[in-house]
Amino acid sequence: TRAPLVLGIETSCDETGIGIVRGRTLLSNTIASSMDEHARYGGVVPEVAARAHLEALQPAIRAALAEASVSLHDLDAVAVTSGPGLAGALMVGIGAAKALAVSLGKPLYAVNHLVGHIAADILDADAGPLEYPTVALLVSGGHTSLLLVRDLTSDVELLGETVDDAAGEAFDKVARILGLPYPGGPEIDRAAASGDPTAIRFPRGLSRTSDLARHRYDFSFSGLKTAVARWIEQREAAGEPVPVADVAASFRESVVDVLVTKALDACAQHDVPRLLLGGGVVANRRLRDVALARAAEAGVSVRIPPLRLCTDNGAMIAALAADLIASGRRPSTLSFGADSTLPV
Ligand code: KG4
Ligand code: ZN
Repeated sequence: TRAPLVLGIETSCDETGIGIVRGRTLLSNTIASSMDEHARYGGVVPEVAARAHLEALQPAIRAALAEASVSLHDLDAVAVTSGPGLAGALMVGIGAAKALAVSLGKPLYAVNHLVGHIAADILDADAGPLEYPTVALLVSGGHTSLLLVRDLTSDVELLGETVDDAAGEAFDKVARILGLPYPGGPEIDRAAASGDPTAIRFPRGLSRTSDLARHRYDFSFSGLKTAVARWIEQREAAGEPVPVADVAASFRESVVDVLVTKALDACAQHDVPRLLLGGGVVANRRLRDVALARAAEAGVSVRIPPLRLCTDNGAMIAALAADLIASGRRPSTLSFGADSTLPV
């Protein structure tokens, strides 16, 4: 039998993602982003994102079908992100997925966005099969999570997550403090290139011995953001110029250090020699470099899917559903809704 042809819909944040896979083979991955509409607010505005999904969905579905050279009637199943994410944004994708599945008479799979990020890896044909167990570090504007993956379809354990801002959100907020445009991640990366990462010792969130007992694998970035703001205020109050490059490089170093330290600590504690990275912050060169260098020292291999599969997309949702189908999972009933805090 041929592997199932699955269309995946992703609308948990500001990307309208439609992906089509046949089993683990990627056929198309269409993404429409409302990022530009959020730029003047300095972050994603849920209502704006939901409205943008409503307008973008149909053209995105059409484009994905054309790119994959298939028609709706060829599909074996429809998959959709049911959470976690912005409730209103999720509802738009869920409504569309239910309508498609019912009108086509095809099974519908509600899947978890975070597990979808892990599934992005299986579409990377060059990387070979994902081996278990693996630790996954997912870092984006919406989430910062550390997971222990024993099986993509049945056994994913949340080890820790951010207790306040996501890592990408911290980049966006600090960029704003520095007067750089949104999204801040790429801007800080650029500014940091000529800066000294050791110029300022910013705090490493939840890394003190007293924090580790309860928050060994959790993250916190809001204290770091405040520390950057305060440091800049003091400079300005003293009438001294703000060394933007050094601040950007030192801030970035703090984020990267905490992310990589905790991820490799999880690998060591759980005796797992594999680390998978995902989420839009993986675009950060310094994060990739530090993760690769320190993992090599620790004897841990690192997998990083291509960036277009690391950022939010529909292909990873379709890929996860295709694996669920292969593992014998029953389709979802039509009664599910959006769950903004859906656990893995
Ligand atoms: O996964 P993504 O495209 O969307 C979601 O947030 O779900 O991630 C976007 C986030 C933004 O916060 C953006 O500032 C951050 O990823 N980002 C980066 C870089 N490129 C994008 N953060 C740090 N360094 C980068 N080069
Ligand atoms: Zn995401």
